[in-house]
Amino acid sequence: MRTQPAALLAIDHEELVIRRGRRSGVYSAIAVHSTTLGPALGGCRMWSYADSMEGARDALRLSRAMTLKAAAAGLDLGGGKGVIVLPAGAAPPQGAARRDVLLDFADAVNALDGSYVTAEDVGTSARDMVTIAEVTRSVTGLPVVHGGSGDPSPFTALGVEAAIRACLRERFGSPELSGRRIAVVGCGRVGERLARRLAAGGAQLLLADVDAGKRGLAAELPGARWVPSEEAVLADVDVLAPCALGGVVHDGNVSRLRAAIVCGSANNQLADDRLAERLAARGVLYAPDFIVNAGGLINVSAELTSGGWDEATAHERVARIGPVIDAILHEARRRDVTPLAAAIEVARRRLEASGAALKISPTAPRTETPPRPESDRTEIPQPVRRGDTHGDPGGPPALPVTGAGSG
Ligand SMILES: NC(=O)c1ccc[n+]([C@@H]2O[C@H](COP(=O)([O-])OP(=O)(O)OC[C@H]3O[C@@H](n4cnc5c(N)ncnc54)[C@H](O)[C@@H]3O)[C@@H](O)[C@H]2O)c1
Repeated sequence: MRTQPAALLAIDHEELVIRRGRRSGVYSAIAVHSTTLGPALGGCRMWSYADSMEGARDALRLSRAMTLKAAAAGLDLGGGKGVIVLPAGAAPPQGAARRDVLLDFADAVNALDGSYVTAEDVGTSARDMVTIAEVTRSVTGLPVVHGGSGDPSPFTALGVEAAIRACLRERFGSPELSGRRIAVVGCGRVGERLARRLAAGGAQLLLADVDAGKRGLAAELPGARWVPSEEAVLADVDVLAPCALGGVVHDGNVSRLRAAIVCGSANNQLADDRLAERLAARGVLYAPDFIVNAGGLINVSAELTSGGWDEATAHERVARIGPVIDAILHEARRRDVTPLAAAIEVARRRLEASGAALKISPTAPRTETPPRPESDRTEIPQPVRRGDTHGDPGGPPALPVTGAGSG
């Protein structure tokens, strides 16, 4: 195995734990990027990697993104991520083997003594969290019957709707959905719920999914029409809501998008964060995905509050994504930067106000080896003014962030 020490060592994290499981022999890697604002909450990803170093790099990269996401969403949480490093090409373990892997991961969580709190992510489920909870208390995302917050998708969809309404108000002067043309690309757990909410508000929907089994949704919802994914992405609509995989906006299509607004649940909607500049230059309002889709994180974080999770409170907190988007768009306009740059600046200021410098480099280490899971933000750029690629213009006054707090 050829290691890449430079990539692994170029970090600004608080802790990195890599453990070989005593039951399974499978490696767990957990990175805690920051606990400045609170415990580092981040999912447990179970995925196959070329080697354990690649898994560790993924944990490092994803945990840094979680710091930004939690800070910008106004949560009192830090950034962390756990990775269960399955051997290259290995199928997800089942039965007793899966249980061993999960319990070994839980041991690694305990090694961090409460600074990291895990949850479900790509490759793990709420049921897996129940197994992990046998060994550690630092776990969220359990089913409601086990005292957890259950499936985050309805809350993610709620947050996306709130963000879409904020964008509509910014662009058209009204948050009303009625008569708005909205393309939802990806009708899975979040996309289907979002489509139902938008249809209930009177939106005219274009629905797309690579799974033709989802066609029934278009037949069921009033004002909805089924179209191929590529057509939906390039459609002449008020809002494009990407709710499938990342990279939906890329070099090859950015100049052909006709949507006035891009606002959806998918992580990493821009293949490259610099595309935010190109969208802004074309007059397309791009709402930063890590703010828009924070509903799931906000929901699960309620489990850590003194009163625990309850649906009504989680609902109310997630709805505050709307005012957060309002504030970010206001700040972007005021400073003549993209909403993405404004959102990053919100996170930076919040962390700095808590006494921590946000040491996020414009060239955060990427994990190079494909294939990769559809993943969270891979790179956190420095805020830039439109047309200026040389970094932070510096010194804006504090933004009145009204986002959710974890209590
Ligand atoms: N579930 C959550 O609470 C949550 C929270 C934050 C972010 N997200 C992000 O939102 C997105 C959707 O999450 P989900 O939980 O609904 O996932 P999901 O797997 O339930 O749904 C994704 C859907 O997208 C479809 N799809 C895949 N490729 C497509 C393509 N090229 N064109 C059209 N459709 C395609 C799939 O068939 C599936 O129906 C993901 O990017 C996820 O990371 C989800």
